[in-house]
Amino acid sequence: RSELRGVVAVDGPSGTGKSTVARRLAAGFGAEYLDTGAMYRAVTLAVLRSAVDLADVDAIVEVAERAELVSGTDPERPTVHLGVEDVAEEIRGPEVTAAVSAVSAVPGVRELLVRHQRRIIDAAVARTGGIVVEGRDIGTTVAPDAGLKVFLTASAEARALRRAAQDSAAGRDASVDVTLADVQRRDRLDSSRAVSPLRRAEDAVEVDTTELDVAGVLRELTALVERRGLRP
Ligand code: DC
Repeated sequence: RSELRGVVAVDGPSGTGKSTVARRLAAGFGAEYLDTGAMYRAVTLAVLRSAVDLADVDAIVEVAERAELVSGTDPERPTVHLGVEDVAEEIRGPEVTAAVSAVSAVPGVRELLVRHQRRIIDAAVARTGGIVVEGRDIGTTVAPDAGLKVFLTASAEARALRRAAQDSAAGRDASVDVTLADVQRRDRLDSSRAVSPLRRAEDAVEVDTTELDVAGVLRELTALVERRGLRP
């Protein structure tokens, strides 16, 4: 059993350190972890491979429904598969990153993945007692009853620097200028889409990570978990 009781939602734009922090928070409590962005990315990969038109929403939803998406919830080893194929690396590539906002704006895709995410969350709570879920709409849509909702922010410049460092560490091309433009473009798309736009839930705690390192953010979140009584 995990030392975390219930669901912690970690939302916010990319480059706020969301993934690192959510994973480590889950690992520290012996809880499960779900990266919902990886799910939108995997569906996007399936769409790109199927070569359907990105404007054909019905075709996109069909591909999403057929995709055999499997998400692992071990924070020490998060996995994402399409059928038996491990796609963890490919979903971080530039083709998927360029197309994921369009695919994740399709209402049918979101309905499908939100259903999937709720099933995974319910199973985790029944199994280990607790799960940390990261994304854009966890506190607002996927798990509105989460015991703790955190909304991470950081300046666009700080986020672009982190993204570029991540890309470069993973051996991908990375210029801070291009990354900053991409971060701003995705912010615009993710915040302005009609279904479940990126926005802070009213009852979410906002944590600005511009001046904090990972350890600093983790200390704040751990304190919040304890204050909420989610660690019995
Ligand atoms: O967190 P990420 O960068 O891997 O997310 C990839 C994209 O997926 C991002 O552009 C927005 C979308 N996304 C979403 O719409 N809803 C979520 N819960 C998670 C991600």
